Amino acid sequence: MDWGMKNRLSRLIQPDGKALFLPIDHGYFQGPTTKLEKPGETLKPLLPYADAVMLTRGVLRNCVDPTVNKPIILRVSGGTSMVGEDLANEAITTSIEEIIRLNASAASMSIFVGSKYEHQTLTNLAKLVDACENYGIPVMAVTAVGKELEKRTARYLALCCRIAAELGARVVKTYYCEEGFEKVVDGCPVPVVIAGGPKTETQQEVFDFVYDGMQKGAIGVNLGRNIWQTEHPVAAIRAIRAIIHENYTAKEANDLYEQIKAGKL
Ligand code: 5RP
Repeated sequence: MDWGMKNRLSRLIQPDGKALFLPIDHGYFQGPTTKLEKPGETLKPLLPYADAVMLTRGVLRNCVDPTVNKPIILRVSGGTSMVGEDLANEAITTSIEEIIRLNASAASMSIFVGSKYEHQTLTNLAKLVDACENYGIPVMAVTAVGKELEKRTARYLALCCRIAAELGARVVKTYYCEEGFEKVVDGCPVPVVIAGGPKTETQQEVFDFVYDGMQKGAIGVNLGRNIWQTEHPVAAIRAIRAIIHENYTAKEANDLYEQIKAGKL
């Protein structure tokens, strides 16, 4: 692996081999999502606790201070919306020149395996990998399910993750599943990070699945709504960080969350 690629990956994945990525890219198809109406304001208090931030070029340019020293994972696929015909019908929306100009540490895009647009999104991934590898930029593939959340079974997720890695993704982001998540990770030859999905009922549920996913081999998370849509986003991200980088159990993380919430820490 060339120096540039190694250097970028080492900015994303920390010396302990773990990572906490914070995505605020949801507006690219959801518009001004709840609690992300002003992305710069949502991000500010959370930034110190994230290892990298995932977002689009528009939000990066307009809402993030360019003097900030935080690795950027640039979302470079899109072209669909919540009210459009099919969320899977994505194209690559950002050129390689723009990815370099914005000094991204990685580029990221969604694949929709099993959808009508499977071929299109998988060949998009292969082409993005070709362009990015030329410049030592890692690609993180997002195994997206659109509105069909019930698709999140180990069999399906393992299929998606393996295909993403085979096409050249350096990191794969996927959903957690209770049954057989270890098979998803084991079948994927590159690091796997867990997405959060829609906000859960309780904070404990998030700590539980992050902890279990890490035990089963994930290197960390790329988790958004279950941080910044919660009532106490800083407490939430600090507790998740403790699971990822300080080996906290889910219960210890919840205790930490309660203490931070109560202003004791
Ligand atoms: C949106 C994304 C998000 O980055 C991803 O879904 C993680 O965010 P969340 O934890 O809110 O699901 O790719 O398309």
